[in-house]
Amino acid sequence: MRRLVGETTLRPRQLILPMFVAEGATEPRPIASMPGVVQHTRDSLRKAAVAAVRGGVGGLMIFGVPEKHDATGSGGIDENGILNVALRDLRAELGDETVLMADTCLDEFTDHGHCGVLDVDGKVDNDATLSVYAEMAVAQAEAGAHMVGPSGMMDGQVGVIRRALDQTGHTDVGILAYSAKYASAFFGPFREAVNSQLKGDRKTYQQDTGNAREALREIELDIAEGADMVMVKPALSYLDVIRSAADLSSVPVAAYNISGEYAMVEAAAANGWLDRERTILEVLTSIRRAGADVILSYWAAEATAWLND
Ligand code: PBG
Repeated sequence: MRRLVGETTLRPRQLILPMFVAEGATEPRPIASMPGVVQHTRDSLRKAAVAAVRGGVGGLMIFGVPEKHDATGSGGIDENGILNVALRDLRAELGDETVLMADTCLDEFTDHGHCGVLDVDGKVDNDATLSVYAEMAVAQAEAGAHMVGPSGMMDGQVGVIRRALDQTGHTDVGILAYSAKYASAFFGPFREAVNSQLKGDRKTYQQDTGNAREALREIELDIAEGADMVMVKPALSYLDVIRSAADLSSVPVAAYNISGEYAMVEAAAANGWLDRERTILEVLTSIRRAGADVILSYWAAEATAWLND
């Protein structure tokens, strides 16, 4: 009877697997704070991506880890930069079998670790960053991304990227907007995942944990600027925001079950304090119940295997 009347579905096609690829890596490098997640080589990325897609995940979100960082994050725009090279590999391998997405943000590529370029006082310069995002998004579209994922929380980023994509003939490339992204402690393990150089915090551009209305305004703005999907991130401490977003949004809502949420469960499970599989499926189901149409999760491939059983 539970099966008959269950309200919430959790299907592989609703899951997106985030993956990291490191420039110059000769073998996959473990990420200590995210047991089971690695910085891939180009080759291991290709293999793991194919396996995840054939297993049934709905999409892939790719992050690049460059060898060199600079002030403007130029490695993110360079067509030979690791992220663009990896996108080209994956699009050649997978064609339109999956939805291939790219993180459109500078923090992986800058030597200061901020999501934007800095002004003379060392502050993140919103408007100067926008044109860099536009160039980055076009480079990713040219490399084969079906969707770009602006995650830097600069005001106006979605509109600028939409216009740049349209002007360069990429009218069919979509935008997954990280609309409501909070200045969260749960991003901790991600810094290790991308060898981030960040000192300080992101409170001048990411949202205040206590604010919900602000998130809804960000979502409305992004939809008006042309977002094809909007995202709330992190997921677990913001389930109420996901619910409000789902009620308000005219486009699909994504939620990112982020690195720190992954690490917490993995650490507890490794200690025998939680039943790992039950906990993971409960986490993913609760994010769906809150209203997320799709979920980005480092467990996407593994959960897919369980759900297919
Ligand atoms: C920005 C970006 C971040 C994450 C995804 N895109 C880091 C940040 O904004 O601080 C975090 C993902 C995670 O923690 O799992 N490029």
